[in-house]
Amino acid sequence: MEIEAIGVVGAGTMGNGIAQVFAQAGFAVRLVDVATPTLDRARRTIERSLARLVEKGRLAAADRDATLGRLRTTTELDDLSGVDYVVEAIVEELAAKRALFTSLDALLGSEAILASNTSSISITALGAATRRPDRVLGMHFMNPVPVMMLVELIRGQATSDASVGVARGLCAALGKTGVEAADYPGFIANRVLMPMLNEAFYAVMEGVGTPEAIDAVMKGGLHHPMGPLALADFIGLDVCLAILTVMQEGFGDPKYRPCPLLRRMVAAGHLGRKSGRGFYTYEP
Ligand code: CAA
Repeated sequence: MEIEAIGVVGAGTMGNGIAQVFAQAGFAVRLVDVATPTLDRARRTIERSLARLVEKGRLAAADRDATLGRLRTTTELDDLSGVDYVVEAIVEELAAKRALFTSLDALLGSEAILASNTSSISITALGAATRRPDRVLGMHFMNPVPVMMLVELIRGQATSDASVGVARGLCAALGKTGVEAADYPGFIANRVLMPMLNEAFYAVMEGVGTPEAIDAVMKGGLHHPMGPLALADFIGLDVCLAILTVMQEGFGDPKYRPCPLLRRMVAAGHLGRKSGRGFYTYEP
């Protein structure tokens, strides 16, 4: 299957990175979001990220211009008609994602493949919201998307080998490696990562250490590039809460229960970097 045009739905942290890497790899990208300010912010973020590469001599100015020329932003989902492959990166809520997949299924040609960047939600449930569950799969990028070389590929109950093959080919075109994970809550990355972050939240709540001390131990003592609390702020505390909730409900196992401190911070609107405040504070 020859893929030329890619749709990305949701222009937040992950969506803008996903749009950038596809445009850099030569695909025509249409980036959709309901909010114009989010689209404007996404374009600025992409411009900054590409400018950094030009400054470092890793990207020619002409390639930066060509990349930006391949990127179109829009608030109209209908503008995706005719694309071959869509990556959904909207809010981490099953009902919202299912409604979007049903709309995309009605809008797109029968050959088009629908991928979700979900961190934890069932790909099988998203496939079941369409008439093409064989052409629905998970394509889970890592943040920051331009830097992280790995993509989790998740097969729902009905996902075909052909669809996984197309996604693998796209990963290769992006210079990334696709690794398959089965469709269980949290897949591989968050199954392993979230219990560690949650434990770090409990450690703060119980006064085991300050956020600075906990992060210093994990960075200096275990060579993690970021401490767990800085990483949680980076991911978004609301996203961490959503993922842990999916895991707790999906497995019915109390070991995944979100830490009460995390719930309280999210209720306060302290969502991490994107809101300027989480375990740390950030310049706007
Ligand atoms: N876009 C483009 N390039 C970026 C970037 C961005 N948003 N952020 C950083 N970079 C580049 C920098 O330009 C720099 O490039 P050079 O080495 O070529 O100079 C490089 O990445 C390193 O950046 P910095 O020197 O600024 O800072 P750093 O060394 O502290 O690295 C980091 C920053 C790459 C984010 C690093 O701290 C890191 O790897 N952190 C862990 C990130 C992680 O675990 N991500 C996965 C989160 S989980 C997830 O995404 C999935 C989920 O479902 C929750």
